[in-house]
Amino acid sequence: MALREIVTIPEPILRKKAHKVTNFGPDLQALIDDMVETMRDAPGVGLAAPQVASPLRVIVVEFGDEENEEVPPKLFTMVNPEIVRVSDGLVVGTEGCLSIPGFVGDVERVEQITVKGQNRFGKPMKVKASGWLARIFQHEIDHLNGVLFTDRALRVWQPAEGEVVPRD
Ligand code: CO
Repeated sequence: MALREIVTIPEPILRKKAHKVTNFGPDLQALIDDMVETMRDAPGVGLAAPQVASPLRVIVVEFGDEENEEVPPKLFTMVNPEIVRVSDGLVVGTEGCLSIPGFVGDVERVEQITVKGQNRFGKPMKVKASGWLARIFQHEIDHLNGVLFTDRALRVWQPAEGEVVPRD
């Protein structure tokens, strides 16, 4: 495993639509292992492959239970993720992004989603997420379509020192 460099705006790959993964071989396995290591090192709560300059539809998400800090964070690795169901109603939350250092923004997201995709070995998988976990999935899937949180934000600002916002 190795750390990969996180690319930042205005790197063009962040604005491209990522490609569907069809080859689940060693290169993909190495990419996923490196993405997990890079996300944890950053540290961040999610990472999409274009953020490490790979044009593939791969995301990793790691976030704990917001209600209960005793529950260890759960790691999700998803290949070719697709939002197949969304709840009614939008919720506003403050997001940051490892590819847009120094800025955060208030973004409206759907409260609950169902995401279908494949695991790292190509086996179909489905995740139902709500709250912050759902927000992170939406943020990461946006990355696969070249969309950044600043495109959706109601307002963007530079946080004061000590203001902590999860980044992904
Ligand atoms: Co991001």
